[in-house]
Amino acid sequence: MDRGSIFGPGRTAVVTGAALGIGRALSLRLARQGMAVVMADLPGTDLDAAVTDVRAAATSGPGAVVGMATDVSQQDQIDRLKAGTLDAFGQIDLLVNNAVTRTGRGIDAELKGWRQAMEVNLWGPVMAARAFLPTLLENPAPTAIVNTGSKQGITNPPGHPIYNMTKSALKTYTEALEHELRNMPGNQGPGRLTAHLLVPGWTTTGKAEHKPGAWLPDRVVDTLLDGVTGGRFYIICPDDEVTAEMDAKRILWAAQDITENRPPLSRWHPDFAEAARDACS
Ligand SMILES: NC(=O)c1ccc[n+]([C@@H]2O[C@H](COP(=O)([O-])OP(=O)(O)OC[C@H]3O[C@@H](n4cnc5c(N)ncnc54)[C@H](O)[C@@H]3O)[C@@H](O)[C@H]2O)c1
Repeated sequence: MDRGSIFGPGRTAVVTGAALGIGRALSLRLARQGMAVVMADLPGTDLDAAVTDVRAAATSGPGAVVGMATDVSQQDQIDRLKAGTLDAFGQIDLLVNNAVTRTGRGIDAELKGWRQAMEVNLWGPVMAARAFLPTLLENPAPTAIVNTGSKQGITNPPGHPIYNMTKSALKTYTEALEHELRNMPGNQGPGRLTAHLLVPGWTTTGKAEHKPGAWLPDRVVDTLLDGVTGGRFYIICPDDEVTAEMDAKRILWAAQDITENRPPLSRWHPDFAEAARDACS
């Protein structure tokens, strides 16, 4: 059974952060493809409106789409999300940890903001993966966990260190998760559970106005579906300003800060910025 079947009719997805942006677009696509979709987000009109729209588009009928008010930073709400999904659809095939908070900014931001960002962006996905793992593993069909990272968690640009830190930690966690899954004796063969790191580029989401250079969320969804179907772990999206080649050079440059004994974030250091621009263009 090929991995693309994960996104087919009769399968069930749980998407967090489903009220807006990439999570909403993904829910819409999966429901159009005939999947049952559980849309999890903080309670409110955004979630209600998104669920109404996705239900209207669901090829398996409106009953195939359920909205569940969920704060992913709360273990009891994650447990309720899993139990509610199993009650509604009896199985889980795909978990997409996509919810995000962008609290805080610089190094001097209040500790409360740092903690909140870690709770939502890191502990949310970790708690969800742990809670959903047994169900995903016992499913004989191919299943997947997709965690949504960011280029900011790889190249660490200045300006929003809290966010970068959460995404860097999520990358490390997801890499280790996939390593353990592929070495698990009971998780071998075509029906195995895989983990993936989705790394969107600049994407117009939330309630932001679309600007030239950014992708619309649907293109991220295309890349995600292709990536999981093709068995890729790192699913890195370019955008209309930054090509895949530029991304590769920026990632290499950041890694070489260590091997070349340069200062960290040297791409933005006055002594190295010009060389970085030349190397990464
Ligand atoms: N938009 C981009 O350019 C971009 C770039 C790189 C990575 N990403 C990543 O893609 C993912 C989706 O981003 P987006 O821009 O589509 O987001 P968005 O801001 O459009 O939506 C995020 C959703 O997460 C929900 N959320 C926040 N806190 C939550 C909580 N505690 N529990 C449950 N839901 C919560 C929000 O209510 C919102 O609906 C994120 O993980 C983000 O870090 C986005």
